[in-house]
Amino acid sequence: VIHGADQGGDARMDSARSSAAVRHSIAIDPGALVDERRVHRDVYTDSLVFDAEMQRIFRRTWIYVGHESEVLNPGDYKTTTVGREPVILVRDDSQALRVLVNRCTHRGATVCQPSAGRTSAFRCSYHGWTFGLAGNPLGVAFADGYVDAKDAVRSLAQAPRVESYRGFVFASFNPDVPVLTDHLRPVLPYIDLFVEASAGFDIAVAKDAYDVIYDGNWKMQLENGVDGYHLNFTHQSTFPVVQQRTGSNSRYLTNSSQTQGTVQAFSSGQSIMDMRTIAVGILRKRLDILPNAPPAGADLDAFYGIQRGEDAYLSTAGSGVAVNIFPNLQLGSSNICEIHPIAVDRTRVILRPVLLSGAPDAVNRVRLRYHEFGSGPAGFVQPDDLEMFERAQTGMAAEAVEWLDLSRGSTRESVGPEDQRIGQITDEAPLRALYRWWRELMETTV
Ligand code: FES
Ligand SMILES: [Fe+2]
Repeated sequence: VIHGADQGGDARMDSARSSAAVRHSIAIDPGALVDERRVHRDVYTDSLVFDAEMQRIFRRTWIYVGHESEVLNPGDYKTTTVGREPVILVRDDSQALRVLVNRCTHRGATVCQPSAGRTSAFRCSYHGWTFGLAGNPLGVAFADGYVDAKDAVRSLAQAPRVESYRGFVFASFNPDVPVLTDHLRPVLPYIDLFVEASAGFDIAVAKDAYDVIYDGNWKMQLENGVDGYHLNFTHQSTFPVVQQRTGSNSRYLTNSSQTQGTVQAFSSGQSIMDMRTIAVGILRKRLDILPNAPPAGADLDAFYGIQRGEDAYLSTAGSGVAVNIFPNLQLGSSNICEIHPIAVDRTRVILRPVLLSGAPDAVNRVRLRYHEFGSGPAGFVQPDDLEMFERAQTGMAAEAVEWLDLSRGSTRESVGPEDQRIGQITDEAPLRALYRWWRELMETTV
């Protein structure tokens, strides 16, 4: 789906000017920072590298900005970011989705403050300039001070490309970026799986989210989504709790054999972690110990009063495949994870629960409890990951050791068509693919 393709050239011209200014100020050598099996610490710690990433990655490729269920009706909006740029995802009066730069064309103030809402216009609070849902100027306060008030006010800048796939909306400030479905092609079947783990209901993003800032580089969250190696160790506090409540082992991995799942890496930095062979039974146990879980042995169709009650309950744990979409989206479990880089050592992560639209409240309550189990402030999964990211950022302050090792599984991964790599679930094949793509983007200036 291609949205809002009819806007003017202002945004494009602004974008070209600012990229020229930044490009000339950044002198780094990306090729010296990554090789096939390792990454230099500067990739996580050097603010010049971060500035170059914002320009060469976040203004250049497709960036996830939201799900269509967050902006269902004209006037519905959500504020978010494309790299460091504040933007507004909004559905305009003609139903088109637009990504407006949240920056008043008068003197720079953001024109929209809430994280989400519904409006008929965006009015800047500083001096009152007002813009329509398509970013068009609606009015200048005290227009008599301008020779021609109509000329004085300019449209909000906007992303020249906005496209979506199965409800996932992406924007790009690069007018020449390939069509979205080409960019996503290798992971399209896994996005489909995520959307279809819904017992026949449409998915809808919950209004509230787990929103956190950690003191570490943005790529740590991205890497971690397809890192099967850390599960048994970072998340070890989960296992005795589940074991105590259910009386049986709840570890994902008992050894690192391939039969326990795979990681697969594709072009454009995309990857998946496929846990379908190991996760289904274990995740079911986690569901069963949640508050609001149905009584053991209950007929779930009768319990929830719907035909696919059992499917709806089990869909809470997701498809069993975690999907990493470079550079800022992760789909896993029944969560959408947005990655927002703030600075080289500071990142905001928003984990949004996905609910089933029109399903009984009791079904969606289990989804929220499961989200809290993993991602809440006292959750068993995400808080432990964040702690590891901060430890890594702290450790990498050490100049005595320059390189990080990404070699795990590099001699046993299989190479398929179009450079697809398949490894055992604890292998670092997705990270190596991520940095091959990172280097390609970072070495090319537009
Ligand atoms: S900065 Fe927005 S009206 Fe002046
Ligand atoms: Fe984790």
